[in-house]
Amino acid sequence: MSMWWFITTLAIIAFISNSPVYAYDNNPLQDICVAVNDSHASVFVNGKICKDPKLATADDFFFSGLNVSGNPETLFGFAATRVDVTTMPGLNTLGISIVRADLEPQGLVPFHTHLLATALITVLEGTVYAGFLVPDPANFFKSRLFSKILNPGDVFLIPQGLIRFVYNVEHKKATFLASFNSQNPEAIMIPSLIFASEPPIMDDILAKGFQLNKSEIAELRKKFS
Ligand SMILES: *[C@@H]1O[C@H](CO)[C@@H](O)[C@H](O)[C@H]1NC(C)=O
Ligand SMILES: *[C@@H]1O[C@H](CO)[C@@H](O)[C@H](O)[C@H]1NC(C)=O
Ligand SMILES: *[C@@H]1O[C@H](CO)[C@@H](O)[C@H](O)[C@H]1NC(C)=O
Repeated sequence: MSMWWFITTLAIIAFISNSPVYAYDNNPLQDICVAVNDSHASVFVNGKICKDPKLATADDFFFSGLNVSGNPETLFGFAATRVDVTTMPGLNTLGISIVRADLEPQGLVPFHTHLLATALITVLEGTVYAGFLVPDPANFFKSRLFSKILNPGDVFLIPQGLIRFVYNVEHKKATFLASFNSQNPEAIMIPSLIFASEPPIMDDILAKGFQLNKSEIAELRKKFS
């Protein structure tokens, strides 16, 4: 076995075994693949099952309602209205979606990430402070913050998978659109995922992990659940 063959094989194995972690949405294999509206009809390969193209209608490619704000939840003061494969079935397999986000004064889209999608944020109204964290390759206990104050018309790019936030710095409402290169850019909301998991993470682990004492952990659990 030649060395080159060996190295190439290793490289291919490394690529294949990494690809689910660093995946993008796949390219479609057909012109249209409108998702059947059945929450059980998920194929865990490339989104949803397609319905018969003859049964597709213009409504499958249409969404109405991004002209109005969602109802902001109370803890952080933000609302998200998603136009993804669950609300616009025609997006199935096409690798794109958009979200309208509304922030109350001092509202925050808290620390979160989208593992499968890069985001472009476009501010429509108000002023927000948006940022994302890039791990330091030399020391994974450190990171660099990339952040910007954004006004209407400003566009900010947040690369796939990085932890980010968007904060309304003003005393009036703010609205922005987030465009994603995924039909279903599932959000991983870090504070609630960690402090409100089911079953809960052991207190000792949270206390050690965040260098807090147990009463502070109990306090955080209460806030996020
Ligand atoms: C939003 O758009 C819908 C559909 O065009 C329309 O019916 C509705 O009145 C609009 N709402 C506002 C607040 O503009
Ligand atoms: C899918 O079906 C549910 C339940 O019948 C309905 O509430 C929802 O609006 C439908 N979604 C779409 C995108 O048609
Ligand atoms: C936990 O930390 C808080 C804030 O630092 C402190 O006020 C409290 O006394 C501590 N509680 C315990 C049990 O150590």
